[in-house]
Formats: sequence, C-alpha cells, structure tokens
Amino acid sequence: MTDPVSAWRRLADSAVLLDGFHALKHAVRFGAEVPVAVAVDREAALALADELAPDVRDRLAELLTEVPEPAYRSLVARPHPTAVAALAVRPSRAANVRRLAYLPRTAPVVVLDNPRNLGNAGAVIRLAAGFGATGVVTTGTVDPWHPTVVRGGAGLHFATAVERLDVGELPPGPLFALDPEGDDIRGTKLPDDAVLAFGSERSGLSGELRARADHLLRLPMRPQVSSYNLATSVAMTLYHWSATADF
Ligand SMILES: C[S@@+](CC[C@H](N)C(=O)[O-])C[C@H]1O[C@@H](n2cnc3c(N)ncnc32)[C@H](O)[C@@H]1O
Repeated sequence: MTDPVSAWRRLADSAVLLDGFHALKHAVRFGAEVPVAVAVDREAALALADELAPDVRDRLAELLTEVPEPAYRSLVARPHPTAVAALAVRPSRAANVRRLAYLPRTAPVVVLDNPRNLGNAGAVIRLAAGFGATGVVTTGTVDPWHPTVVRGGAGLHFATAVERLDVGELPPGPLFALDPEGDDIRGTKLPDDAVLAFGSERSGLSGELRARADHLLRLPMRPQVSSYNLATSVAMTLYHWSATADF
C-alpha cells in the first residue's frame, strides 16, 4: 500500500484540499475522486460517519488511513477539529464549461462578478449546492477553487459546476443582474435557464457585465440601507427562484 504521507506530498500542489470530516463527506457524496484521505483517529472518524453520514460510511472506511498526529499536522496548514483531511482531484475546466453551457437547463447558473472575499465565494457555492443550481461562475482574478473558498464551501464544490470565466464566455441564457437600482424582483419569475449575476463586494457590477445584462433586479431593502452582503443577496435570489419555479 502507498504511504499516504508520500502520496499526499506528491499530489498536494495540483489537488483540492478537503479540510475536515464534513468537507470529505460532502465531496464523496457528490462523486469526487479522492486519491488520499487521512485521519488521526480513524475509528472516531468512522463513528462520526455512522452518526452523520451512513450513506458514505463504507466509502470513507475504504478511503481513510490513520496517520500519527505529527504527520497529519505536517500536511495541513491549520489542523481541523475532526483531524481528518483529504485531497480530491479538481474537475476539468472543459467538463465544467460543458455542464454550465448544457441546455435545456433545469436550474440557474450563479455568476459572481469579480468577488473579493473568499469566504463569501465559498458560502455562495454552498448555497448553489443546496438549491441544486447548475453552477457558480466567477469573473476576475480569484480562483473559485482556492483552499479558503473550498473551506467556506464545505466540500460542496463537487455538487455543482464551479469555474472562472471571462464575461465574454458566460453560459447562454437570459442574464438577470442584481443591483439596488433594478426593478423589484418580486414582480419577476426567474426562469430555470437564468444566469443570475451579482457584483463585487467593493464596487458592485462591472460595466462589462451590466452591458450584457438583459434585466436589472433589486431585492427589497429600506432606502437608508446601501446594500446587502453578497452571499445573502444570492440566498434571497435563489430562494425567490425556487419559490416561483414550476413543479
Ligand atoms: C455588497 S454588494 C455591493 C456593494 C457595492 N459597494 C456597490 O457599490 O454596489 C454586492 C452585490 O450584492 C448584490 N446586492 C446587494 N444588495 C442588493 C439589493 N438590495 N438589490 C439587488 N442586489 C443587491 C448586488 O449584486 C451587489 O453588486
């Protein structure tokens, strides 16, 4: 059997870090390829699986190798309370682009236009996974697979298509951009093939994205409040889509 620490060191630069039991559980549930997974206390990790994730318990038992605590600490920058960590293979850009562009689409694509806060991006990926959105696209310089984003997303990157694209490469579909100056979202039914775009925390929607938008929509907000947090704006908009969708 390959030594897990050597395998980790060989793969770490190109793989996605799954930090903690919950990230590993979600990634496995949604079909991630996991070449190496370690735990300081394998029995404790499997007891957590019995309690919280019986659906993937057997798969976790196959994947997890126990390693001494100093070895675990040498692999991760910040130890997780569950002392579980794994590496997953990042899905290919081509596969994500195909998933994002596939029509007919049964759930919207979320676009974050040049997001700056990695925690916000992770929270949005978790929301997209929860609502069954087709994917999350970011524009700008942030890599949506950055370890901090993956930590914020709790391993749910594997439940939706996550990719960085230029505005000119956005998937097809009517583009609804969220902006406090738009029309009230409550008067609009969002279609399943919608592309829902949100601006940067610092400067809102870029001119390029605004120019491509088919509709500008606002979320209800008192006039004295300037704006909502990016992730909460995505949550309200996806909830609005789900509440008005045809079943
Ligand atoms: C923190 S806000 C951006 C604030 C930024 N300072 C600005 O000038 O717009 C991040 C994004 O959340 C969305 N957002 C926040 N509040 C909104 C509202 N009331 N209606 C529609 N979208 C909103 C927009 O897409 C906005 O670009």
